[in-house]
Amino acid sequence: MATNITWHPSLSRRERNQLRGQRGLTIWLTGLSASGKSTVATALEQHLLHLGRAAYRLDGDNVRFGLNKDLGFSEADRNENIRRIGEVARLFADASTVAITSFISPYRADRDLARKLHAASTAGGDGDEPIPFVEVYVDVPLEVAEQRDPKGLYKKARAGEIKDFTGISAPYEEPLNPEITIKTHENSVEECVAQITQWLADKGYITIP
Ligand code: ADX
Repeated sequence: MATNITWHPSLSRRERNQLRGQRGLTIWLTGLSASGKSTVATALEQHLLHLGRAAYRLDGDNVRFGLNKDLGFSEADRNENIRRIGEVARLFADASTVAITSFISPYRADRDLARKLHAASTAGGDGDEPIPFVEVYVDVPLEVAEQRDPKGLYKKARAGEIKDFTGISAPYEEPLNPEITIKTHENSVEECVAQITQWLADKGYITIP
């Protein structure tokens, strides 16, 4: 536990966003393994970058090679995984970037904590603009994800070779009030990206030229 530490205020978020010419926010994708989170996140990141927006993707499989390489898939480790990602996403968003996270994030309480962290983020002082947190439920039936099984993990989980596997031997708590729901088994990746960007534009979070 750190003690004797002081928060150093800097520019307000509003000022930073104005100077950078865009509003930072977090787009939080959640869904089963093989639901299409990473594919949509990658396409969305590229789309926003091509529009001239600063965007950065944080992905489960990648972040677990570095920042979170000390964590496994027990409930406690997943809680910590998502807590750290919530903090990191908030930092990117605070730096006027569109942070796109793609983690299973199976527990409602963890996702709500990440949301609260963004809402409570008033480092810039009074009147500062909050950081938007946009929960995107990548909603595909378990059967579809299991049939895709690009990494062969569902097969291994069914065979008992992987324990605590989401959807098979560990829970997935679907979002109750996501800002956006996408269905990668009914719509193409491009359509899902368009659905998200249109929602962001309607809210005034991004401008589409
Ligand atoms: S989370 O539950 O803590 O949010 P995260 O998104 O970081 O998970 O990692 C999920 C990825 O790890 C999956 O896409 C899969 O490739 C791999 N993985 C390995 N073991 C498991 C497991 N037991 N449950 C789910 N995913 C697993």
